Amino acid sequence: MSSGFVRGMRTLAGLAPPADAVHLRYAPEAYDDRLFAELGIAAPPSLDRAVAKRRAEFLAGRLAAREALRPLGLADRQVSPGEDRAPQWPPGIVGSISHCSGHAVALCLEAGTAAGVGIDVERIMPAADMGELPAFIAKPAEFELLNGDGARPGPAAATLMFSAKESVYKALFPQVKRILDHGALELVSHDRTAGALVLALGLDLAADLPRGFLAKVRYRRFEDLVVSACLLASPGDLQAGRG
Ligand SMILES: CC(C)(COP(=O)(O)OP(=O)(O)OC[C@H]1O[C@@H](n2cnc3c(N)ncnc32)[C@H](O)[C@@H]1OP(=O)(O)O)[C@@H](O)C(=O)NCCC(=O)NCCS
Repeated sequence: MSSGFVRGMRTLAGLAPPADAVHLRYAPEAYDDRLFAELGIAAPPSLDRAVAKRRAEFLAGRLAAREALRPLGLADRQVSPGEDRAPQWPPGIVGSISHCSGHAVALCLEAGTAAGVGIDVERIMPAADMGELPAFIAKPAEFELLNGDGARPGPAAATLMFSAKESVYKALFPQVKRILDHGALELVSHDRTAGALVLALGLDLAADLPRGFLAKVRYRRFEDLVVSACLLASPGDLQAGRG
């Protein structure tokens, strides 16, 4: 049964060094409730009333997380959701999960390597669905930096900007435990060749997360997808000037 659900698994080398992010393709239409038991993934009570699409994406995300934990010797651990829905990683591990229409990605690392990590996968939005979204997620100057198309970003630029900010938000959330809007992060640099972005925090969140703190994001585009990953510098890296 599981072979019909899981359509492929690979690592996205270079997206989040020193970790390898995991990318899993799955078939939502092949989902069956028995897959949780068959694949050894615990279904949390929050899924009891969920529709099949939601159960399928949760399962796919946890399967990707299991592969991301494997190099750390922790593939046997369950990653349950917290009350705030953020995944509860094993002690000493930081990680992140994302999914969208048949794709799930996960990333995890030892907490000493990064203070937090976030990953996000998005399908590039159809131009007709963009509406006011670009203006909501970033200023024209940020889009100018991203793609040179300031006031009128295209779907790929808008999706990448959205995805990058989501990945930073997910990396920050376990420390700051508060919702941030897109204006809390500003794109300040873009290295197109490396697929690397830097975003600056627009407000003070904590002593080691002050206004102006820089979060680095790498991204990859393939097929009609964008995947972004953020590794927050560890306090040790910042003290040593490696942030
Ligand atoms: C949670 C959120 C970040 C992404 O959720 P989404 O749109 O469903 O998209 P994704 O598939 O990429 O991510 C979902 C996964 O993120 C993880 N997640 C959920 N809440 C999280 C949080 N607060 N912090 C970190 N990770 C979280 C979970 O693993 C979840 O999957 P699961 O429920 O199957 O375990 C988003 O919905 C949200 O709450 N945003 C509010 C803040 C924001 O976006 N601000 C703008 C950027 S600064």
